[in-house]
Amino acid sequence: MNQGNQTTIYEFILLGLSNQVEKEKLIFVLFLSMYLVTVVGNGLIILAIGLDIHLHTPMYLFLANLSFADISSSSTSVPKMLMNIQTKSQSISYEECITQMYFSIVFVVVDNFLLGVMAYDRFVAICHPLNYTIIMHSRFCVLLTVCPWFLSNIVALTHTLLASQLVFCNQNTIPHFFCDLAPLLKLSCSDAMINELVKFIVGLSVITFPFALILFSYVCIIRDVLRISSREGKWKAFSTCGSHLTVVILFYGTIVGVYFFPSSTHPEDTDKIGAVLFTVVTPMMNPFIYSLRNKDMKGALRKLINEKHFFPLVS
Ligand SMILES: *[C@@H]1O[C@H](CO)[C@@H](O)[C@H](O)[C@H]1NC(C)=O
Repeated sequence: MNQGNQTTIYEFILLGLSNQVEKEKLIFVLFLSMYLVTVVGNGLIILAIGLDIHLHTPMYLFLANLSFADISSSSTSVPKMLMNIQTKSQSISYEECITQMYFSIVFVVVDNFLLGVMAYDRFVAICHPLNYTIIMHSRFCVLLTVCPWFLSNIVALTHTLLASQLVFCNQNTIPHFFCDLAPLLKLSCSDAMINELVKFIVGLSVITFPFALILFSYVCIIRDVLRISSREGKWKAFSTCGSHLTVVILFYGTIVGVYFFPSSTHPEDTDKIGAVLFTVVTPMMNPFIYSLRNKDMKGALRKLINEKHFFPLVS
Protein backbone atom coordinates (compact mmCIF):
# COMPACT_ATOMS: atom_id res chain seq x y z
CA MET A 1 0.00 0.00 0.00
CA ASN A 2 1.26 3.43 -0.87
CA GLN A 3 1.82 5.34 2.35
CA GLY A 4 3.31 8.34 0.58
CA ASN A 5 0.48 10.85 0.54
CA GLN A 6 -1.20 9.48 3.62
CA THR A 7 -1.04 11.67 6.68
CA THR A 8 -2.92 11.17 9.88
CA ILE A 9 -5.77 13.62 10.17
CA TYR A 10 -6.18 15.04 13.67
CA GLU A 11 -8.90 17.49 12.84
CA PHE A 12 -11.44 18.32 10.21
CA ILE A 13 -12.53 21.64 8.83
CA LEU A 14 -16.28 22.15 8.79
CA LEU A 15 -17.11 24.61 6.05
CA GLY A 16 -20.59 25.25 7.45
CA LEU A 17 -23.51 26.41 5.39
CA SER A 18 -22.00 29.48 3.81
CA ASN A 19 -18.65 31.11 3.30
CA GLN A 20 -19.90 34.66 3.11
CA VAL A 21 -19.63 36.68 6.32
CA GLU A 22 -22.96 38.45 5.84
CA LYS A 23 -24.81 35.21 5.24
CA GLU A 24 -23.08 33.62 8.22
CA LYS A 25 -24.46 36.32 10.50
CA LEU A 26 -27.96 35.61 9.26
CA ILE A 27 -27.42 31.87 9.64
CA PHE A 28 -26.17 32.40 13.19
CA VAL A 29 -29.27 34.33 14.23
CA LEU A 30 -31.60 31.95 12.43
CA PHE A 31 -30.09 28.78 13.84
CA LEU A 32 -29.77 30.19 17.34
CA SER A 33 -33.47 31.08 17.27
CA MET A 34 -34.48 27.71 15.91
CA TYR A 35 -32.33 25.98 18.50
CA LEU A 36 -33.84 27.97 21.38
CA VAL A 37 -37.37 27.29 20.11
CA THR A 38 -36.53 23.58 19.89
CA VAL A 39 -35.13 23.39 23.41
CA VAL A 40 -37.85 25.49 25.04
CA GLY A 41 -40.73 23.93 23.09
CA ASN A 42 -39.69 20.33 23.60
CA GLY A 43 -38.57 21.04 27.16
CA LEU A 44 -42.03 22.38 27.99
CA ILE A 45 -43.61 19.27 26.50
CA ILE A 46 -41.44 16.98 28.63
CA LEU A 47 -42.18 19.03 31.76
CA ALA A 48 -45.91 19.28 31.06
CA ILE A 49 -46.20 15.55 30.49
CA GLY A 50 -43.96 14.68 33.42
CA LEU A 51 -45.86 16.87 35.87
CA ASP A 52 -49.41 16.07 34.76
CA ILE A 53 -50.51 12.69 36.02
CA HIS A 54 -53.41 12.61 33.51
CA LEU A 55 -50.89 12.57 30.70
CA HIS A 56 -49.07 9.48 31.88
CA THR A 57 -50.56 7.45 29.06
CA PRO A 58 -48.56 5.61 26.38
CA MET A 59 -49.19 8.24 23.71
CA TYR A 60 -47.79 11.06 25.81
CA LEU A 61 -44.88 9.05 27.16
CA PHE A 62 -43.87 8.28 23.59
CA LEU A 63 -44.28 11.96 22.78
CA ALA A 64 -42.02 12.91 25.71
CA ASN A 65 -39.44 10.47 24.38
CA LEU A 66 -39.71 12.03 20.94
CA SER A 67 -39.23 15.49 22.44
CA PHE A 68 -36.17 14.31 24.29
CA ALA A 69 -34.74 12.84 21.06
CA ASP A 70 -35.52 16.12 19.29
CA ILE A 71 -33.66 18.27 21.81
CA SER A 72 -30.72 15.90 21.68
CA SER A 73 -30.76 15.75 17.91
CA SER A 74 -30.31 19.47 17.44
CA SER A 75 -27.90 19.63 20.36
CA THR A 76 -25.45 17.36 18.58
CA SER A 77 -24.94 19.73 15.68
CA VAL A 78 -26.26 23.26 16.27
CA PRO A 79 -24.29 24.48 19.34
CA LYS A 80 -20.97 23.43 17.81
CA MET A 81 -21.89 25.10 14.54
CA LEU A 82 -22.90 28.34 16.31
CA MET A 83 -19.69 28.29 18.31
CA ASN A 84 -17.62 27.84 15.18
CA ILE A 85 -19.32 30.81 13.52
CA GLN A 86 -18.84 32.93 16.61
CA THR A 87 -15.18 32.07 17.14
CA LYS A 88 -14.50 32.14 13.39
CA SER A 89 -12.91 28.75 13.73
CA GLN A 90 -13.97 25.90 11.52
CA SER A 91 -12.08 23.07 13.06
CA ILE A 92 -13.38 20.02 14.83
CA SER A 93 -11.10 17.35 16.23
CA TYR A 94 -11.21 13.82 14.89
CA GLU A 95 -12.65 12.50 18.16
CA GLU A 96 -15.27 15.22 18.33
CA CYS A 97 -16.18 14.52 14.74
CA ILE A 98 -16.67 10.79 15.29
CA THR A 99 -18.63 11.45 18.50
CA GLN A 100 -20.84 13.94 16.70
CA MET A 101 -21.48 11.42 13.96
CA TYR A 102 -22.37 8.71 16.47
CA PHE A 103 -24.94 10.81 18.29
CA SER A 104 -26.42 12.38 15.20
CA ILE A 105 -27.14 8.87 13.93
CA VAL A 106 -28.56 7.72 17.28
CA PHE A 107 -31.09 10.54 17.47
CA VAL A 108 -32.22 10.49 13.85
CA VAL A 109 -32.72 6.74 14.02
CA VAL A 110 -34.53 6.89 17.35
CA ASP A 111 -36.86 9.59 15.96
CA ASN A 112 -37.60 7.23 13.14
CA PHE A 113 -38.47 4.30 15.38
CA LEU A 114 -40.49 6.45 17.78
CA LEU A 115 -42.64 7.71 14.91
CA GLY A 116 -43.31 4.06 14.07
CA VAL A 117 -44.17 3.27 17.69
CA MET A 118 -46.49 6.28 17.88
CA ALA A 119 -48.28 5.13 14.73
CA TYR A 120 -48.75 1.71 16.24
CA ASP A 121 -50.15 3.32 19.38
CA ARG A 122 -52.73 5.31 17.37
CA PHE A 123 -53.56 2.17 15.41
CA VAL A 124 -54.41 0.26 18.58
CA ALA A 125 -56.28 3.24 20.05
CA ILE A 126 -58.49 3.73 16.99
CA CYS A 127 -58.82 0.24 15.59
CA HIS A 128 -58.89 -1.78 18.82
CA PRO A 129 -60.15 0.78 21.36
CA LEU A 130 -61.66 -1.81 23.69
CA ASN A 131 -58.43 -3.74 23.98
CA TYR A 132 -56.21 -0.67 24.19
CA THR A 133 -55.35 -0.92 27.88
CA ILE A 134 -54.80 -4.66 27.58
CA ILE A 135 -52.48 -4.40 24.58
CA MET A 136 -50.61 -1.29 25.69
CA HIS A 137 -49.88 -2.41 29.23
CA SER A 138 -47.04 -0.65 30.96
CA ARG A 139 -44.39 -3.34 30.49
CA PHE A 140 -45.06 -3.43 26.76
CA CYS A 141 -44.85 0.37 26.57
CA VAL A 142 -41.49 0.37 28.28
CA LEU A 143 -40.36 -2.24 25.76
CA LEU A 144 -41.65 -0.06 22.91
CA THR A 145 -39.51 2.84 24.11
CA VAL A 146 -36.43 0.88 25.16
CA CYS A 147 -36.17 -0.95 21.82
CA PRO A 148 -35.82 2.20 19.68
CA TRP A 149 -33.05 3.53 21.94
CA PHE A 150 -31.27 0.21 22.00
CA LEU A 151 -31.48 -0.39 18.25
CA SER A 152 -30.45 3.14 17.35
CA ASN A 153 -27.29 2.76 19.43
CA ILE A 154 -26.49 -0.50 17.64
CA VAL A 155 -26.97 1.20 14.27
CA ALA A 156 -24.80 4.17 15.26
CA LEU A 157 -22.13 1.88 16.65
CA THR A 158 -21.99 -0.10 13.41
CA HIS A 159 -21.59 3.02 11.30
CA THR A 160 -19.07 4.57 13.66
CA LEU A 161 -16.88 1.49 13.90
CA LEU A 162 -16.88 1.19 10.11
CA ALA A 163 -16.14 4.88 9.68
CA SER A 164 -13.28 4.73 12.17
CA GLN A 165 -11.55 2.29 9.80
CA LEU A 166 -11.50 4.87 7.02
CA VAL A 167 -8.26 6.51 6.04
CA PHE A 168 -8.24 10.23 5.39
CA CYS A 169 -5.45 11.57 3.27
CA ASN A 170 -4.52 15.18 2.80
CA GLN A 171 -8.14 16.21 2.42
CA ASN A 172 -9.83 17.21 5.68
CA THR A 173 -12.39 19.76 4.55
CA ILE A 174 -16.01 18.77 5.10
CA PRO A 175 -18.48 20.86 3.08
CA HIS A 176 -21.15 20.52 5.75
CA PHE A 177 -22.13 22.03 9.11
CA PHE A 178 -21.51 18.94 11.20
CA CYS A 179 -19.80 15.57 10.86
CA ASP A 180 -22.51 13.68 9.07
CA LEU A 181 -21.91 10.18 7.78
CA ALA A 182 -22.38 10.92 4.08
CA PRO A 183 -19.84 13.76 3.65
CA LEU A 184 -17.32 11.83 5.76
CA LEU A 185 -17.58 8.82 3.48
CA LYS A 186 -17.10 11.06 0.47
CA LEU A 187 -14.00 12.63 1.98
CA SER A 188 -12.18 9.41 2.77
CA CYS A 189 -9.53 8.21 0.39
CA SER A 190 -9.94 4.57 1.28
CA ASP A 191 -12.49 2.43 -0.45
CA ALA A 192 -15.78 3.24 1.24
CA MET A 193 -17.71 0.64 -0.73
CA ILE A 194 -18.58 -1.45 2.36
CA ASN A 195 -19.55 1.65 4.31
CA GLU A 196 -21.84 2.83 1.53
CA LEU A 197 -23.36 -0.62 1.25
CA VAL A 198 -23.97 -0.87 5.00
CA LYS A 199 -25.34 2.66 5.04
CA PHE A 200 -27.78 1.71 2.30
CA ILE A 201 -28.90 -1.62 3.78
CA VAL A 202 -29.16 -0.39 7.37
CA GLY A 203 -30.81 2.84 6.19
CA LEU A 204 -33.28 0.85 4.16
CA SER A 205 -34.29 -1.37 7.06
CA VAL A 206 -34.33 1.47 9.58
CA ILE A 207 -36.64 3.45 7.32
CA THR A 208 -38.86 0.73 5.88
CA PHE A 209 -39.72 -1.04 9.11
CA PRO A 210 -41.31 1.96 10.88
CA PHE A 211 -42.64 3.26 7.58
CA ALA A 212 -44.44 -0.01 6.87
CA LEU A 213 -45.86 0.09 10.39
CA ILE A 214 -47.06 3.64 9.83
CA LEU A 215 -48.58 2.84 6.45
CA PHE A 216 -50.31 -0.24 7.80
CA SER A 217 -51.67 1.70 10.77
CA TYR A 218 -53.01 4.46 8.60
CA VAL A 219 -54.75 2.14 6.17
CA CYS A 220 -56.62 0.69 9.11
CA ILE A 221 -57.16 4.05 10.79
CA ILE A 222 -58.59 5.65 7.66
CA ARG A 223 -60.85 2.65 7.04
CA ASP A 224 -62.19 2.90 10.58
CA VAL A 225 -62.52 6.67 10.55
CA LEU A 226 -64.58 6.48 7.37
CA ARG A 227 -66.92 4.06 9.14
CA ILE A 228 -67.72 6.54 11.92
CA SER A 229 -71.08 7.99 10.99
CA SER A 230 -71.07 11.35 12.79
CA ARG A 231 -68.98 14.11 11.24
CA GLU A 232 -67.84 15.28 14.65
CA GLY A 233 -66.58 11.82 15.58
CA LYS A 234 -64.77 11.50 12.26
CA TRP A 235 -63.03 14.80 12.81
CA LYS A 236 -62.07 13.97 16.37
CA ALA A 237 -60.54 10.62 15.40
CA PHE A 238 -58.71 12.11 12.48
CA SER A 239 -57.37 15.12 14.36
CA THR A 240 -55.56 12.88 16.82
CA CYS A 241 -53.53 11.34 14.03
CA GLY A 242 -53.43 14.20 11.53
CA SER A 243 -50.58 15.82 13.43
CA HIS A 244 -48.64 12.59 13.49
CA LEU A 245 -49.17 12.23 9.74
CA THR A 246 -47.75 15.73 9.14
CA VAL A 247 -44.56 14.91 11.01
CA VAL A 248 -44.25 11.60 9.24
CA ILE A 249 -44.53 13.14 5.78
CA LEU A 250 -42.08 15.92 6.63
CA PHE A 251 -39.59 13.52 8.15
CA TYR A 252 -39.71 10.72 5.61
CA GLY A 253 -39.85 13.05 2.64
CA THR A 254 -36.43 14.46 3.51
CA ILE A 255 -34.85 11.32 4.87
CA VAL A 256 -35.73 9.28 1.80
CA GLY A 257 -34.38 12.00 -0.47
CA VAL A 258 -31.04 12.12 1.30
CA TYR A 259 -30.25 8.75 2.79
CA PHE A 260 -31.68 6.37 0.27
CA PHE A 261 -29.31 7.37 -2.48
CA PRO A 262 -25.57 6.79 -2.41
CA SER A 263 -23.71 9.96 -1.53
CA SER A 264 -22.11 10.29 -4.94
CA THR A 265 -25.33 10.50 -6.93
CA HIS A 266 -26.55 13.82 -5.65
CA PRO A 267 -24.87 17.17 -5.10
CA GLU A 268 -23.58 18.20 -1.69
CA ASP A 269 -26.36 20.72 -1.27
CA THR A 270 -28.96 17.98 -1.01
CA ASP A 271 -27.04 16.51 1.94
CA LYS A 272 -26.98 19.88 3.63
CA ILE A 273 -30.60 20.78 3.02
CA GLY A 274 -31.71 17.33 4.16
CA ALA A 275 -29.57 17.55 7.28
CA VAL A 276 -30.92 21.00 8.15
CA LEU A 277 -34.45 19.71 7.72
CA PHE A 278 -34.20 16.68 9.92
CA THR A 279 -31.73 17.77 12.54
CA VAL A 280 -32.97 21.33 12.96
CA VAL A 281 -36.37 22.00 11.39
CA THR A 282 -38.35 18.82 12.20
CA PRO A 283 -37.23 18.78 15.87
CA MET A 284 -38.38 22.39 16.12
CA MET A 285 -41.74 21.70 14.47
CA ASN A 286 -42.70 18.63 16.49
CA PRO A 287 -43.85 20.46 19.62
CA PHE A 288 -46.05 22.78 17.60
CA ILE A 289 -47.50 20.04 15.48
CA TYR A 290 -48.29 17.85 18.46
CA SER A 291 -49.31 20.30 21.14
CA LEU A 292 -50.99 23.29 19.62
CA ARG A 293 -53.75 21.20 18.12
CA ASN A 294 -54.19 19.01 21.13
CA LYS A 295 -56.56 20.10 23.88
CA ASP A 296 -55.08 17.95 26.68
CA MET A 297 -51.58 19.09 25.85
CA LYS A 298 -52.64 22.74 25.76
CA GLY A 299 -54.38 22.34 29.10
CA ALA A 300 -51.30 20.76 30.66
CA LEU A 301 -49.05 23.50 29.29
CA ARG A 302 -51.36 26.21 30.59
CA LYS A 303 -51.43 24.57 34.01
CA LEU A 304 -47.67 24.26 34.03
CA ILE A 305 -47.20 27.90 33.16
CA ASN A 306 -49.79 29.11 35.68
CA GLU A 307 -48.78 26.92 38.57
CA LYS A 308 -45.07 27.15 38.29
CA HIS A 309 -45.04 30.84 37.47
CA PHE A 310 -42.59 30.20 34.72
CA PHE A 311 -43.63 33.25 32.79
CA PRO A 312 -45.26 35.66 35.22
CA LEU A 313 -46.10 37.97 32.32
CA VAL A 314 -48.12 35.34 30.51
CA SER A 315 -50.21 34.13 33.43
C1 LIG B 1 -40.04 7.47 27.64
O1 LIG B 1 -41.00 6.43 27.81
C2 LIG B 1 -40.86 5.67 29.00
C3 LIG B 1 -41.83 4.50 29.04
O2 LIG B 1 -42.80 4.50 28.06
C4 LIG B 1 -41.06 6.58 30.18
O3 LIG B 1 -40.94 5.86 31.38
C5 LIG B 1 -40.04 7.70 30.13
O4 LIG B 1 -40.29 8.61 31.18
C6 LIG B 1 -40.10 8.43 28.80
N1 LIG B 1 -38.99 9.38 28.69
C7 LIG B 1 -39.15 10.71 28.78
C8 LIG B 1 -37.95 11.54 28.57
O5 LIG B 1 -40.21 11.19 29.00
